[in-house]
Amino acid sequence: MAKFHGPRFLFLILAGLVLCTADDKNGPETSPKCNYTLEEENDTVTVKIDKNDSAVKYKIKFTDTSDGSSTEESFPMSLKSFKPCQNYTVTLTPSCNPTTGFFKTRELVDSDVNHTLKITGAKVQVCFETKWDLNKCIDLNTSISCTGYSVTFNGDPCKKSIPFTLPPVKPVISYTNEFPTKLRWDNQPSNCLKDLTYNCNGLAVADFKDLKTIHNHICTGTYDYGNGTVTSDPIPVKIDCDIVNEPSLSVSHNSIHASWQLDSEKCPSITTDFTWKVTCKNGSTSSLKGHCTKNPCEFSNLEFFTEYTCEFEASYENKPFNTTTKTTKTWPGQPSYTKSPTTKDESHNAFKVSWSINRWNGIPGKIFAELYINDHLEDNKTDCNGMSCDFHFTNLYYSTQYKIKVYAQNGNGNRTVILDVDHSTKYNDKALIGFLAFLIVPTSVAVLFVLYKIYLLKREKSR
Ligand SMILES: *[C@@H]1O[C@H](CO)[C@@H](O)[C@H](O)[C@H]1NC(C)=O
Ligand SMILES: *[C@@H]1O[C@H](CO)[C@@H](O)[C@H](O)[C@H]1NC(C)=O
Ligand SMILES: *[C@@H]1O[C@H](CO)[C@@H](O)[C@H](O)[C@H]1NC(C)=O
Ligand SMILES: *[C@@H]1O[C@H](CO)[C@@H](O)[C@H](O)[C@H]1NC(C)=O
Ligand SMILES: *[C@@H]1O[C@H](CO)[C@@H](O)[C@H](O)[C@H]1NC(C)=O
Ligand SMILES: *[C@@H]1O[C@H](CO)[C@@H](O)[C@H](O)[C@H]1NC(C)=O
Ligand SMILES: *[C@@H]1O[C@H](CO)[C@@H](O)[C@H](O)[C@H]1NC(C)=O
Ligand SMILES: *[C@@H]1O[C@H](CO)[C@@H](O)[C@H](O)[C@H]1NC(C)=O
Ligand SMILES: *[C@@H]1O[C@H](CO)[C@@H](O)[C@H](O)[C@H]1NC(C)=O
Ligand SMILES: *[C@@H]1O[C@H](CO)[C@@H](O)[C@H](O)[C@H]1NC(C)=O
Ligand SMILES: *[C@@H]1O[C@H](CO)[C@@H](O)[C@H](O)[C@H]1NC(C)=O
Repeated sequence: MAKFHGPRFLFLILAGLVLCTADDKNGPETSPKCNYTLEEENDTVTVKIDKNDSAVKYKIKFTDTSDGSSTEESFPMSLKSFKPCQNYTVTLTPSCNPTTGFFKTRELVDSDVNHTLKITGAKVQVCFETKWDLNKCIDLNTSISCTGYSVTFNGDPCKKSIPFTLPPVKPVISYTNEFPTKLRWDNQPSNCLKDLTYNCNGLAVADFKDLKTIHNHICTGTYDYGNGTVTSDPIPVKIDCDIVNEPSLSVSHNSIHASWQLDSEKCPSITTDFTWKVTCKNGSTSSLKGHCTKNPCEFSNLEFFTEYTCEFEASYENKPFNTTTKTTKTWPGQPSYTKSPTTKDESHNAFKVSWSINRWNGIPGKIFAELYINDHLEDNKTDCNGMSCDFHFTNLYYSTQYKIKVYAQNGNGNRTVILDVDHSTKYNDKALIGFLAFLIVPTSVAVLFVLYKIYLLKREKSR
C-alpha cells in the first residue's frame, strides 16, 4: 500500500502546482475591465470611467509631451491645470483602456481671455488672464495707449493671437472755475481720440450747464477703449463764482430795503435763483426773520429809530454760500402812544390834563398841551420832559368849556396828530359864598334893627 501512495501524492502536489501557476497566468484576464473617455465641457475636463467594480479607485496622470511635466488630478479638473493646444499623455492607475492614451486640448479662443487693469501708484499694467494655465501682464504708458495689441502667450504652442485695444493710462480730470464749467481730461494720450464721458453725483453729464455753481459735485471721467472702460478717480467740483453777498441797504422810518449787485465775471449768466435768509436784531431780540426771494427786497413793519444788526445768508438754488452782517438804523418817526389824554378837576376853576406816550421813536422831545376857548389860545404848556405828563391849568374861568389840544413831538421834529379833549370848569363857588355873605350881613343888620326897635318899644311901655 505504501508503494502505491507515494507517487500518487506527488502527482497531486504537481497538479496543484500546475493549477496554481495556471491560475496566476489567467489572473489579469479575469480582473475587472474598464474603459475611459475624456471630455472637455464648461471649462472642465471630465473623465468617464466605465468600470465593473465600483470599489476600485483610479488615479489619473497627465504628462505634458513637450516638457515631460506631469500632474496627478482628481475629477473634475479645471482647464487651469492645462495649456491650450497641448498633447498630454494620460495614465490611469490601476490601468484602464486605453492604458496610455493621449489628450489633446483645444485651441485658445477669444472668449477664454479676459483682462484687468492693475494700477499701483503711477504704474499701470494690463493683465490678461485665461481659462487655461496662461497669464501675462504688460506695462502701459501713454505712447502705446489706445493702440491695437495682439495678445499671445509664450506657453501656447499654437501661438494664437487675440486682438486687443490697449486702454489709456488712468485718466486724470480737472474743471474750470466758471459757469458753465468744462471738465477736462488732463493726461489724454494722443492716440485716444474720443473724449471721456463724465459722470457727476451718479448721473451722466449731458450738459455742463447742469453742474450748478456753488453746489458741490463729485465727478469722474470714463473712457471706453473698446475692450473695457477705465475711470478716473473722483474729483470734487465746486464752481466758486466771484459773486459777492454785499447788500446795499437803504432805510425808511420802519423798513429796510436791500439790493444786491450780482454781476460776476466767472459766472456772467447767473443772476437769478438767489435767495436770502434775513434776520435783523436789536440786542438779543430778533425783530425780523424773513426770506428774500427776489432782488431787491424790502422788510417793513420795523421799529422806528432803532439800530438793527442784520444777517443776510445768501443761497443759490437753496445752497447757502455766504453770510454777511450789516448794521443800520431806521429813521425817526412819529412818537407812538396808546392812550388818549384824560382830564381831572383840581378845583372849580382848575384841572389837570394827563397824557403819556410809549416811545419817542426818535430823539426824546416834548409833549405839548394847548388850552383853547372857542379856538382862542388861552394857555400853552410844555413844562414836561418825560413821556408821561400832567399839565395843571389854574385860574381859569368858571363854568367855561375849554378845549385842550395835546400832541407830542420828538427831537427830530416828528409829531403825533393833535388830540382834542374837552373839559368844563364848574360854577364859581367863591363868588357864591361872597354873595351869601353879602346877603347875610344886611339881613342880620335888619334883624338887629328890628330887635332894637322892639326893645325900644318895650322900654317905652314900661315907663
Ligand atoms: C470596453 O470597450 C469595448 C469596446 O469598445 C467593449 O466591448 C467593452 O465592453 C468595454 N468594457 C467595459 C468594461 O466598458
Ligand atoms: C454645461 O453647461 C450647460 C449650461 O450651463 C449645461 O446645460 C450642461 O449640462 C453643462 N455640461 C456639463 C457637462 O456640466
Ligand atoms: C464584468 O466582469 C464579468 C466577469 O467577471 C463579465 O462577465 C462582465 O461582462 C463584465 N461586465 C462588463 C460590463 O464588462
Ligand atoms: C501626441 O503625442 C504622441 C507622442 O508624441 C503622438 O504619438 C500622438 O499622435 C499625439 N497625439 C495628438 C493628438 O497629437
Ligand atoms: C477685445 O475686443 C475685440 C473686439 O470686440 C475682441 O475680439 C477681443 O477678443 C477682445 N480682447 C480681449 C482680450 O478681451
Ligand atoms: C477672468 O477669467 C477668470 C477665468 O475665467 C476668472 O476667474 C476671473 O474672475 C475673470 N476676471 C474677470 C475680471 O472677469
Ligand atoms: C511704452 O511702452 C512700450 C511697450 O512696452 C515701449 O516700447 C515704449 O518704449 C514705452 N514708451 C515710453 C515712453 O515709456
Ligand atoms: C437797539 O436800538 C436802540 C435804539 O436805536 C439803540 O440805542 C441800541 O444800541 C440798540 N441795541 C443794539 C444791541 O443794537
Ligand atoms: C462772504 O463773502 C465776503 C466777501 O466775498 C468774504 O469776505 C467773507 O469771508 C465771506 N464769508 C463767508 C462766511 O464765506
Ligand atoms: C421824521 O422827521 C424827519 C426829519 O424831519 C423826516 O425826514 C421824516 O420824514 C419824519 N418821519 C415821519 C414818519 O414823519
Ligand atoms: C406855545 O409856547 C411856545 C413857547 O412858549 C411857543 O413857541 C409856541 O409857539 C406856543 N404855541 C402856540 C400855539 O402859540
